Amino acid sequence: MAFTIAIDGPAAAGKGTVGRRLAAHFGFAHLDTGLLYRATGRRMLDGEGPVEAAQSLRPGDLDAPGLRTPEVGQAASRAAALPEVRQALVDFQRAFAARAGGAVLDGRDIGTVICPEADVKLYVTATDEVRAARRLAELTASGHDIGYDEVLADLRQRDARDSARAAAPLKPAEDAVRLDTSKLTIEEAVAAAIAEVERVQRG
Ligand code: DC
Repeated sequence: MAFTIAIDGPAAAGKGTVGRRLAAHFGFAHLDTGLLYRATGRRMLDGEGPVEAAQSLRPGDLDAPGLRTPEVGQAASRAAALPEVRQALVDFQRAFAARAGGAVLDGRDIGTVICPEADVKLYVTATDEVRAARRLAELTASGHDIGYDEVLADLRQRDARDSARAAAPLKPAEDAVRLDTSKLTIEEAVAAAIAEVERVQRG
């Protein structure tokens, strides 16, 4: 059986960074599942219906420019509330998780819905303020003209929508290990995640 690591949590908590670094450390493949919803949201903003967009996603869509913008994030969050959109993306995610070499997937429902049998489940959090400051730094570094208050409001609005929806809402799996990164450096957060995976691998 392939070794699968599921990482969930609210927006900008550090899931992507922890997921990427874990995958590099263990030689596993990494999938940022938010990109599937962002690619769907991107096409919605171009006027396409969300369900048909999700059903016809191609690998190249995940490299489209502008996927990281707050506008696309909001469209992704709206699309993600639709059960038909989520359903269209399940098979791709499960096939990725079953890769022979091991896989890390990060998102909102990986430990609860996509991979309920994952070997390791992490629920990564940080305070709203820390998350907003980190996301602001990323957006500013990539040339976006946006302020802290706007970023904070954007994250809170998405988290509220992602948590309140009926279809696969954002919530920790019962057997997830929580990792609060508010006061941790990236190195510390990654080290804690590696330690948890090694603990499971030792049995
Ligand atoms: O991880 P992200 O912020 O790039 O995700 C963008 C949106 O996609 C997020 O607000 C909710 C949705 N999403 C989801 O519903 N389920 C996932 N597994 C990943 C993302």
